[in-house]
Amino acid sequence: MAETKKCIRKFSAVSSIQLSCRATTGLILTFCLFFHALVFGGAGPEPNTIESKYSFIYIGDIHIDQTSYHDMEWVKSNYPKDIKQIENYVNNTKLYTPCLLKQLRAHIDSDRKQIQMVIQGGDLIEGLCGSYDLQFTQFRYAKEIIGQYLPNTAFFATKGNHDITGPGAIEAFNSFMLPWMSDESNKPIHSASFCFLKGPDLFVIFDAYNNNDPDWLKKTLKENKHRYAFVVMHPPAVPYGARAAWHLFSRPEEKGIREKFLAILGEYRAIVLTAHLHKYSVLGRKTPTGSFVQFSMNSVINSSRISVKDYIEGIQNYTGSLVSLEPDFQPDTVSQRRKWLEDEKEDVTYFEYADFPGYAIVNVSDAAVTADIYTGVSNKKWKNVNLGDILKK
Ligand SMILES: [Fe+2]
Repeated sequence: MAETKKCIRKFSAVSSIQLSCRATTGLILTFCLFFHALVFGGAGPEPNTIESKYSFIYIGDIHIDQTSYHDMEWVKSNYPKDIKQIENYVNNTKLYTPCLLKQLRAHIDSDRKQIQMVIQGGDLIEGLCGSYDLQFTQFRYAKEIIGQYLPNTAFFATKGNHDITGPGAIEAFNSFMLPWMSDESNKPIHSASFCFLKGPDLFVIFDAYNNNDPDWLKKTLKENKHRYAFVVMHPPAVPYGARAAWHLFSRPEEKGIREKFLAILGEYRAIVLTAHLHKYSVLGRKTPTGSFVQFSMNSVINSSRISVKDYIEGIQNYTGSLVSLEPDFQPDTVSQRRKWLEDEKEDVTYFEYADFPGYAIVNVSDAAVTADIYTGVSNKKWKNVNLGDILKK
């Protein structure tokens, strides 16, 4: 009897451990599934759930840098004019990048889990390192600093020109960034052009430099059922400001492919997140197949006191005279840049422009897609823009 009681006690103890393990495993599994769904999304739209209402942070160029990550002899020989620029980015990285990331973390922590990821628009690092090893080290440093401040938030970056500039830079991008993006999206990523679903929404991270195939973009948009389509790429699709030749497919021989590309963005009413020009802009663009909206941010914080300069609003101000915003920029190309703006203006349905660095919190729901714009590392909102409304124009 005593033996039986002992066995029962032993069995009960084992059972309760098993049950407790099963319950814990179940809880862990449920939590993992919930967390995965929360961060990476499910297969289809689920209206009125937490998956269909969320926010993400959008930041533009950052150019994370450190002097030791450059072969300065190589820089002096190949990019002598960029030495001052490197010094500035090294300084910004030391003084302001931690403040920016700290501020983003504060939003994430205070926003009751509403902010579920950070998206970066390219030129994450300064590049111009001079070798594969140095470029790889610069990427690793960027990941470390981001992980230090944003350890529990998914982070996605698109390819910028600086990320692939210099010998071995493309190889370093492929060997560092693709595994990083694979980890973030929880699936193998073999190209800098890739996509993932966040709840009912599709995010296309588009490589504007080495894999900018409009057919791939169309196939991706068509095959992935979505509520909103966000296309994230470093250069803008539509020119704006003084640097009006820095958009994708801007060469004369690319006219046909550009029209095709814009028509795809219009057909799928894309929300295009861009950077590259180091300026803020919101722009609506109509195409024969529909309209899309382009939203550009710059996150090169270079001062503790940031003010908004050159704020311009209204399609009547989208003209060739925008080239005068930077009168010293490439005087020999001014007429070509002016023509770009003049040729484009009849298709522009909404226009905002300003010169300041900062960041944005994009709020997504069935009802709207809006962007809260912040200047510098401030936690005070400068303004809110309804990106969804611009699609209706
Ligand atoms: Fe940049």
